[in-house]
Amino acid sequence: MYDNPKPEQILFSYLKDGACIGYGGLVHINWIDRNAEISFIMDTSLEAAHFAEHWSNYLTMLKEVAFTELNLHKIYTYAFDLRPHLYTMLEANGYTREATLKEHCLFNGVYKDVVLHALWNDRYDIINYVDCTPEQQREILALRNRDDVRKWMVNTEIILEENHFKFVESLKGNLNRLYFAIYKEGRLMGTYNLTNEGNGVWDRGIIANPDMQGTGQTEKWERQILGNLSQYAIQAVSAKVKPDNMRSISYHEKIGFKEQNRDKDYIYYILRLS
Ligand SMILES: CC(C)(COP(=O)(O)OP(=O)(O)OC[C@H]1O[C@@H](n2cnc3c(N)ncnc32)[C@H](O)[C@@H]1OP(=O)(O)O)[C@@H](O)C(=O)NCCC(=O)NCCS
Repeated sequence: MYDNPKPEQILFSYLKDGACIGYGGLVHINWIDRNAEISFIMDTSLEAAHFAEHWSNYLTMLKEVAFTELNLHKIYTYAFDLRPHLYTMLEANGYTREATLKEHCLFNGVYKDVVLHALWNDRYDIINYVDCTPEQQREILALRNRDDVRKWMVNTEIILEENHFKFVESLKGNLNRLYFAIYKEGRLMGTYNLTNEGNGVWDRGIIANPDMQGTGQTEKWERQILGNLSQYAIQAVSAKVKPDNMRSISYHEKIGFKEQNRDKDYIYYILRLS
């Protein structure tokens, strides 16, 4: 596809209705370590109303090029601490805040931080329920409704498809209830939800696809999610586990949850993040 199979940079024009409204690409491509920096500049007059939309489109296209066509291992951004909404948008697209270079650039006479965000090729696709396709929604619901899954839930009833779709609709715009489906190469790995309980504590629910349980992947994708949520100021994650759910008890203790207390129905756990 490209004349030079190992270029130092690959640049694209970003068009809308035939007009160029941005450009950028992968720069400083390191073919030994297989990483590259992301560069993108868009028409500043569109930033106020369409910043997240164009950045998200652009990142989706670039990810396809970087990971599917070029098989890079990691892509990253290097951004001045001038546009906090850029960081929120990057994290919403699955990027992890990797490092802050303190007072690294002199801008208008003031030293500004530079923040690096990165996305790895071996990572999981964390998709908000509200962005899942109807087909994915049915797959998520089928997982939730399996006998060997719902018996461990607080609500053990089968959820009807109609109610599930209504519930997903209710999540739109609600920043205190986050529901994610986790995919890898098109395969559903599990689901994960967080509800803001106040005071920095978020209650979380987790389901791993039974086909993938015991493979060590659940811990990896849970840690990836927790690393992507810096904008929510989560200080601790709570969980309640039925006392006969031995597998879940082992899992929670393995990854660092601490028992707070228990009653006849549940063991109450907490994982402190800060
Ligand atoms: C709980 C859950 C998310 C954990 O994910 P997982 O992929 O199964 O977890 P892992 O295999 O990494 O860890 C489970 C641990 O339990 C251990 N385990 C398995 N069966 C066990 C049992 N009967 N008794 C004690 N420990 C057991 C495993 O050996 C493993 O520990 P190890 O890695 O030290 O060997 C997953 O099992 C799940 O979705 N279960 C159904 C829904 C559920 O219970 N959700 C949680 C509600 S609180």
